[in-house]
Formats: sequence, C-alpha cells, structure tokens
Amino acid sequence: MSDYKSLLLEDQDGVLIVTINRPEALNALNNDVFVNLQILFAEDLPKRTDLKGVVITGAGEKAFVAGADIKEFLSLPSDTGGFDLSKRGHEVFFMIEQFHKLVIAAVNGFALGGGCELAMACHMRIAGAKARFGQPEVNLGLIPGYGGTQRLPKLIGRGRAMEYTLTGDMISADEAYRIGLANHVVEAGEEVNKAVEIIQKIATKAPLAVAKSIDAINASEDESINGYHVEVNAFKQLTLSEDFKEGAAAFIEKRKANFKGK
Ligand code: CAA
Repeated sequence: MSDYKSLLLEDQDGVLIVTINRPEALNALNNDVFVNLQILFAEDLPKRTDLKGVVITGAGEKAFVAGADIKEFLSLPSDTGGFDLSKRGHEVFFMIEQFHKLVIAAVNGFALGGGCELAMACHMRIAGAKARFGQPEVNLGLIPGYGGTQRLPKLIGRGRAMEYTLTGDMISADEAYRIGLANHVVEAGEEVNKAVEIIQKIATKAPLAVAKSIDAINASEDESINGYHVEVNAFKQLTLSEDFKEGAAAFIEKRKANFKGK
C-alpha cells in the first residue's frame, strides 16, 4: 500500500477502516486528503481481492469532515477560480460511489459542506448520536461544489434539499435518519462498529451480485444511461455466473452457499 499522509488505515478482518486524519482542522478536505483518497480508490484498493468493504470516518471526537478546506480557497486561481477544485472533487467522489465493494460513511460528528458530500457519495451512512450534517456553503457565498446539489435532493427530496441548502441549517442525527439521509443512528462511538457489522453481513452474499447491485442502483441516478438496460444486462450476466449455479443449488439442497465471486 502507498504511504498516506492524511489517512489512517486499519484492516479489521478484511474491512478497511479509512480515517481522515486532520483533527486540528476538523478533518477538512485539503489537497493532500484528495490525493490520498484518489490513490487509495483508483490504485491500491482495486488490487485487494480479499477486501470486503470500506468504512470512511473522521479522526477525533468532533468531526467526520467539516467541509472542503476553506483556507485553501484563498489561493484559488484568479481566472478559473474553483472550477478544477470542484471537478476533482466530483471525480474522486464518483470513484467512491462507483466502487464495487460497499463503502459506508461512519459519521461521528460534523459532516458539513464537502463532508456531507463525501458521506453522500458513500453507499450508506451511519450517523452517531453526535453527527451533524449540512450544506452551509451559502454562509460563505458559495454553493456545494462536490456533488451536494445533485445527491442531496436524490436522498431527501427536492423540497427538503432546497431548504437545507438555502438556509445552511444543520441536520441532527435523528432528523437525518427520519428524512433518509442516514441509514441508521447509533450511540456515539458505535458508528464504525455498525458499519463493519453491515459490511460483514454483505460479505456473506454473492460478490458479483453485490457489485452488480451497486452498478444498477447507481444507474438509476444517471440520466445519461438507461438503468433498466443496465439491470437487464447485469441480470443476464449473473444468471450465467458460477455463483448463481451455486446459490440455486444451495437453495435446493438446503445448505449454505459457498460463493467464489465467479
Ligand atoms: N476548512 C478549514 N479549516 C476548518 C474548517 C474547514 N472547512 N472547519 C473547521 N476548521 C478549523 C478551524 O479553522 C479551526 O482551526 P484553528 O483552531 O486553526 O482556528 C479548527 O478547525 C476548529 O474549528 P472551530 O474552532 O471553528 O470549531 P467549532 O467547534 O467552534 O465549530 C464548526 C465547528 C461549526 C464545524 C466550524 O468549524 C465551521 O463552521 N466550519 C466550517 C464549516 C463549513 O463551512 N464547511 C463548508 C466548507 S465549503 C465546502 O465544503 C465547499 C464545497 O462543497 C466544495
């Protein structure tokens, strides 16, 4: 694995816990964090065939990620402004969203701006009792720039997304659960454990079916492709897989399936 300056990595029985490690800046996403996430998801993790899934969380007790690093905004180019910064954020977050193993955000505190956007790019979100989500960019004279204007309405509906983005109000853990932004709310400190528990459960399922489910569900949000076509093709490929033969045989023989990911 590469050397990561701004991430702590810990393997828990095949589940990689990725901790964004800038607690002095509430884990704000600076250039180093983006470079590290890019190398991790584009180069290192695809090589790990034993990987069951990834949990992303933040260092310290206070924050998951408090947003893009506002101090870095002061040195944006005077001609193109934040264009490249926003585009790079999109690319890295697409990589996470399209990753073929489950990625869960364990939201242990503030998940604001780019932090809320990172959590939304993950496949699921576990909110600890101290989690606070929000898109406060309007307070800075900005809008969300890492996909928040697109992912928030898809998760919580257009009206609510409009209100939270325009007011910049924070969303508590219970409210996030109620409106569909968080999959579960757990006691503070239990976020990572809950995420690992879900990944371990899904690791018992057929790996190709998990990967194709992620693809097909993601396709439902991509207006440039027909999600039904993605589904029918994925379904066809899976019916031709060894794991489907094994899964069906195991059902008929009333035994546990032994999936190989083939
Ligand atoms: N960028 C850089 N530094 C940040 C930061 C950020 N997003 N958020 C917090 N910090 C730093 C603070 O500057 C402070 O550093 P110093 O000790 O050196 O002053 C340290 O983290 C602790 O923060 P606070 O003292 O502010 O802690 P607090 O408990 O009083 O407040 C908070 C916590 C409400 C989260 C507050 O820090 C805050 O409002 N942060 C900014 C949130 C924000 O606006 N996020 C959106 C960023 S823009 C964005 O993300 C755009 C995009 O979509 C691309």
